[in-house]
Amino acid sequence: MDILLVASAFNSLTQRVYAELTDHGHRVDAVLASHGPDAVRAAVTRARPDLIIAPMLKTALPEDLWREHTCLIVHPGPEGDRGPSSLDWAIAEQAPHWGVTVLRAEAAMDAGDIWASVPFRTEQVGKSDLYRNEASDAAAAAVLLAVRRFEEGSFKPRPQSDPEVRVVWRDALRQTRRRIDWAADSTATVLRKLRGADSQPGVLDEILGREVFLHGGHPEDRLRGRPGDLLATRAGAVCRATSDGAVWIPELRPRKNSGDPAPFKRPAASVLGPDAPGEEPVPLELPAGRRTWTDIRYRQHGDTGFLAFSFPGGAMSTDHCRRLLAAYRHALTRPTSVLVLGGARDFFSNGIHLNVIEAAPDPAAESWTNLNAMNDLVEAVLRTTDRLVVAALGGNAAAGGVMLALAADEVWCRTGTVLNPHYRRMGLYGSEYWTYSLPRRAGERAAERLTTEALPVSAATAHRLGLVDRLVPAPAAEFAAEVDRLAAELSRAPGLGRRIEAKAAARARDEAARPLADHRSAELARMHAIFFDPRADYHALRSAFVRKVPSGTARPLAPAADPLTASPR
Ligand code: COA
Repeated sequence: MDILLVASAFNSLTQRVYAELTDHGHRVDAVLASHGPDAVRAAVTRARPDLIIAPMLKTALPEDLWREHTCLIVHPGPEGDRGPSSLDWAIAEQAPHWGVTVLRAEAAMDAGDIWASVPFRTEQVGKSDLYRNEASDAAAAAVLLAVRRFEEGSFKPRPQSDPEVRVVWRDALRQTRRRIDWAADSTATVLRKLRGADSQPGVLDEILGREVFLHGGHPEDRLRGRPGDLLATRAGAVCRATSDGAVWIPELRPRKNSGDPAPFKRPAASVLGPDAPGEEPVPLELPAGRRTWTDIRYRQHGDTGFLAFSFPGGAMSTDHCRRLLAAYRHALTRPTSVLVLGGARDFFSNGIHLNVIEAAPDPAAESWTNLNAMNDLVEAVLRTTDRLVVAALGGNAAAGGVMLALAADEVWCRTGTVLNPHYRRMGLYGSEYWTYSLPRRAGERAAERLTTEALPVSAATAHRLGLVDRLVPAPAAEFAAEVDRLAAELSRAPGLGRRIEAKAAARARDEAARPLADHRSAELARMHAIFFDPRADYHALRSAFVRKVPSGTARPLAPAADPLTASPR
């Protein structure tokens, strides 16, 4: 079928739906609702869709469209749930299960006939993690079911007047309800409030006399203090005492003052500057039983090492890259034959840290430093010849983050993951040795297409193209355990020793064909020219991206294949 997606942003779920429908053989086009009703109407006239689907829509569809066409809305709530803050309420009310419902657009919000509904378990994670994983899996299944039912033609969608549908309107969850009472709220309550607002809009609070939004929240088992006091920093996060314990908060966003440019999220310690408390490090190999936050961890099971990392938004600053490289070097000193890289769930990596770069006194210089730090890390993976390295992607990856994964010997991907193996939407040529890794796996032509079309690909398509070696069909919450099992199996595989022995020779052959240093310097020359050209699109695109404003400067990227012709958001 011809399907048109209408979305407020080409966000993770819209990308997932785009990729899955395309994989199912549909011709899919997309238009941003933020371009206005006329742009949406023009897209409908151009695409003549059989069906319109809105995977993520913050505004109403024009009435003429939903009257003349079947328009299906993806609502991140169970049957009968209505309102704009569904997932926030699911977390606030500790619902053990939630759901995604596909319903027909009509005048009243979320009130249309139900085409499909798929439940999911509400894991104890941040809202956007839940959205990108459990909710996206349910949404993809519900959309595919609704599309099949529409195609078959005989399905009668269920009206919400059906007595079995329990209609509940839930208002937007406001900051007054999110507010933390540090003197009274327990760690469990504080974590629930932080998770329900993570990553957006954050919880409005006051720290050291400054109004800030808190982003992210993790429990701390040992540090204690007077409720509300800041106790420590660690790897950029701050630890704050609750009424019965303490929590770690990785990022802060200053509240906007009238007249100032929109502030954006950054590592918490860098927002507090010299007022931040002292560093409270933990060992890379955390003793069993500790329940504290750290963004990089190493552990070992027999012959297999696991280097786990998880950075908010998948963004890797210079500091993240350098600490991860140090941890990687530590992992290489351990006697293992398999080394697995990647976090337990959600984003693997989205490349260099655009927010930290934007906040730097000299963003061009920081872009350069960050990219070189990222390249050093990727190079260390590429040059590892004494063990097999596996990149395990429990969640999405983009740009340099995909290339980090491709540096490994094997790439394992949770089904449902979306990859964006390109840089163009940020106005960049790209680095991280992509000119080596991408054609090596996918061939020159596919590499060219992926980087110029700059479209998301599903894990299944990435597997077909050779970017991914193994699809892991596990729910997000079970991915880490499944990777443990598969890694143990790999470490016992009969041919493993021979595969490792062959690595050095293969690297030497590739080096003789074209040295890695040559790839690096050629890529960096292109990136240097962009970073240090103040008129390069990258600077305006980055500024718009971190502040979440549509960018007026972005050019159409690849008109024939590009569904979206404006900002990358
Ligand atoms: N630097 C800083 N923050 C980043 C980031 C990066 N490289 N990549 C993602 N993020 C943040 C987003 O700002 C967003 O923050 P929020 O949760 O506060 O809204 C969060 O991570 C999730 O990203 P979002 O864009 O909402 O997710 P998505 O699934 O809709 O889109 C991407 C995913 C990767 C396509 C999109 O985030 C993107 O284009 N990122 C930039 C990739 C890039 O160009 N990297 C630099 C070159 S190596």
